[in-house]
Amino acid sequence: MSDENKNGVDTTGHSWDGIEEYNNPLPRWWLWTFYATIIWGIGYTIAYPAWPLINSATKGVLGYSTRAEVAAEIAKFDEMNAPIEAKLVAADLTGIAADAELANYTVNAGAAVFQTWCAQCHGSGAAGAVGYPNLLDDDWLWGGDIEAIHFTVSHGIRNETDGDARYSEMPAFGDILEEEEIAQAVQFVRSLSGQTHDAALAADGAVVFADNCAACHGETGTGDRDQGAPNLTDAIWLFGGSEEALTQTVTNSRFGVMPSWADRLSEADIRAVAAYVHQLGGGE
Ligand code: HEC
Ligand code: HEC
Repeated sequence: MSDENKNGVDTTGHSWDGIEEYNNPLPRWWLWTFYATIIWGIGYTIAYPAWPLINSATKGVLGYSTRAEVAAEIAKFDEMNAPIEAKLVAADLTGIAADAELANYTVNAGAAVFQTWCAQCHGSGAAGAVGYPNLLDDDWLWGGDIEAIHFTVSHGIRNETDGDARYSEMPAFGDILEEEEIAQAVQFVRSLSGQTHDAALAADGAVVFADNCAACHGETGTGDRDQGAPNLTDAIWLFGGSEEALTQTVTNSRFGVMPSWADRLSEADIRAVAAYVHQLGGGE
């Protein structure tokens, strides 16, 4: 077989069933583009972060970093917001709502803080879940004016990290009362909230309640904010109003814990999120 075919073009010498492969040179434009990409590639790895090292990567001579860009962007906004944040920190909490510009900034900033730090427990719409209070309604465990909310958010509830955390502890009555007495108290609590109940058990439950529960939940069961003891008459339940849920609560107690935010968020952020929660609908 010849290395030159009838068109005078070299072949590679390969032949399959008589079909031969031309040995044409690569087009020049293609070849130069190819060399250019190699040069560009090498230049890029010198200029920009590229080669992986053990714990990092080469930095590149231009010193470019997406982190630095984000940091610069954040710094720019921090600087832009500094005056209004200073105003927020200096403001009287109860006066924020009256200053339209400040209130507008505060509530928007507070909504962002809420989505980042609070939504995982209280829900993105703040409607809560079992054990995590709904912050939209006017049923407050610890108080719903802006100062009370600010305090709750700053210090948290029953956590062990903040000495000023709101604290109270409902005893686990499984260790204190007979099962029968717990069943009576549960029926009485159901009667308080207007749910179906066994009237005879509830009548005895009234006595159990007066002796064991009224000190925290109040004689009439309307609760006590100084102790974070829920109102039991409003049919709004933190842990549930069914017989099972109530029996659980009374037998084992619950001990809801919320973290303290004073050491994690700035005072401006805490004020913003407190103002945000306050204006959700239940604020007092
Ligand atoms: C890890 C879960 C968790 C996170 C995160 C959390 N909370 Fe709470 N929060 C709770 C629990 C649990 C309670 C109820 C505790 C109790 O039983 O008294 C509560 C109670 C509250 C209360 C009191 C409500 C009342 O009725 O008095 C407010 C206000 C509140 N949270 C706001 C916030 C804000 C604002 C954030 C974000 C900065 C936040 N929480 C983040 C778990 C959480
Ligand atoms: C020392 C104060 C204290 C005493 C005494 C007490 N409680 Fe409580 N109770 C609380 C607190 C505080 C809560 C809030 C829940 C938590 O611990 O997170 C609560 C919660 C509850 C709840 C849950 C309400 C809901 O919305 O889900 C029920 C029901 C309840 N108590 C019933 C009782 C009954 C019945 C007794 C008496 C047998 C009693 N409690 C005695 C402090 C008390």
